[in-house]
Amino acid sequence: MSRDSIGHTLIVAVILCVACSLLVSGAAVGLKPRQMLNKERNSQKKILELTGLYDPEVPIAESFKSIETQVVNLDTGEYVSDIDPNAFDQRRAARDPALSESIPSGEDVAGIVRRENDSIVYLVNKSGKLDQIVMPVRGTGLWSTMYGYLALDHDGTTVRGITFYEHGETPGLGGEIDNSKWQASWIGKHIFDQGGELKINVIKGMVDTAKPNAEYEIDGISGATITANGVTNMIHYWMGPKGFGPYLHRLQEEGVVQ
Ligand SMILES: Cc1cc2nc3c(=O)[nH]c(=O)nc-3n(C[C@H](O)[C@H](O)[C@H](O)COP(=O)(O)O)c2cc1C
Repeated sequence: MSRDSIGHTLIVAVILCVACSLLVSGAAVGLKPRQMLNKERNSQKKILELTGLYDPEVPIAESFKSIETQVVNLDTGEYVSDIDPNAFDQRRAARDPALSESIPSGEDVAGIVRRENDSIVYLVNKSGKLDQIVMPVRGTGLWSTMYGYLALDHDGTTVRGITFYEHGETPGLGGEIDNSKWQASWIGKHIFDQGGELKINVIKGMVDTAKPNAEYEIDGISGATITANGVTNMIHYWMGPKGFGPYLHRLQEEGVVQ
């Protein structure tokens, strides 16, 4: 067959396509474990930064050993002993009908459609006592599901920090949920009032610190009220009776949270 024939050109094109697709798919499969590890390290770094335990001089995996990881059943608030927290894939569980439940649309304030039966929680202990509880939270913003962590003080209501590790909101608008100043404005705010009612709210505009409700209010994000409302809604869902409410209640009953 002549090198310039149509048949020869087609054979070369097919061989090239097959070789390239094998190369690309091989790289995608081969690099998957490394990508997963990087994702995990990124989440761990966020949690360490959130809890004030991040030290750039110490490997992340090493620092993370000081944090206790548990799996909690969201309905009962009890720890689950037969799930290995290190192997638990919560995002996969949320998609698995056997490990999650569909949320009736009237109750789906966070816009997440399904809720997993169990969730990871991270506990920071100091001198043998609970100091902070870090809980994963997620909810819909304007464009995306926003994934983050909320850290509460050992009183079970005071915010120690909030962070987001994945979202697709617009940089400069909804993306300002990553703004460290805005995140810092959450610290010291209260999720619940004295009677246990969920009060935290990202408001529209600036918080008037002279008002009694200021302890439950967070400054709005200018031009991004939809994302800001999404954050309020996600915190309400995850701190409520279908989220970590039963868990926080149990810790309170047992005197772990006080
Ligand atoms: C290109 C584009 C991107 C936007 N991205 C966001 C966003 O990420 N989050 C958000 O809440 N609003 C975003 N908005 C604005 C919303 O459409 C809406 O106007 C805004 O949330 C209302 O908030 P405001 O009352 O504070 O202005 C975007 C608008 C445009 C045109």
